Amino acid sequence: MLIRPITIAALVGFTLLTACSKNEEAASAASATAAPATVAAAAAAPQATQASAGDVEKGEKVYKSTCAMCHGTGAGGAPMFKSKDDWAPRIAQGKDTLYDHALHGFSGSKGTMPAKGGNASLGDEDVKAGVDYMTSKAT
Ligand code: HEC
Repeated sequence: MLIRPITIAALVGFTLLTACSKNEEAASAASATAAPATVAAAAAAPQATQASAGDVEKGEKVYKSTCAMCHGTGAGGAPMFKSKDDWAPRIAQGKDTLYDHALHGFSGSKGTMPAKGGNASLGDEDVKAGVDYMTSKAT
């Protein structure tokens, strides 16, 4: 997203530089224009890493608000949070199956997992983040 303003700033700088190539003032003005663009480019990098941290946060929030009531205690036969023994055979089914069962619900040999944990206000991405969060802690 920042590429366009940077390109424009660089172009303006370049135009200034070529138009008044013998004028020292214009040259320094051009580099002053270029400097903020560099700062903006450097600032863009940490934002990319924050996005995945946000997903973990979202997963934790979903887990605490909805999934923990069963998965935090093992109520109704739910695989326990942080239990590798409970989760390993389920993780082995593959993420797509886990997402599908969490989104649409399923009844297994232990009990019933309600669709979206019974919280219809959760979006699909929220539920998936909740699955990712629980499975990432079960190692
Ligand atoms: C009302 C209790 C309850 C709530 C709330 C609940 N679960 Fe479950 N969940 C279960 C039970 C019980 C099972 C195990 C069913 C079985 O295997 O017999 C299960 C199993 C699962 C599985 C394993 C599916 C599989 O294929 O083995 C996933 C993934 C899962 N839940 C995700 C979630 C997520 C994400 C949430 C929160 C959005 C959530 N659950 C909320 C009861 C619940």
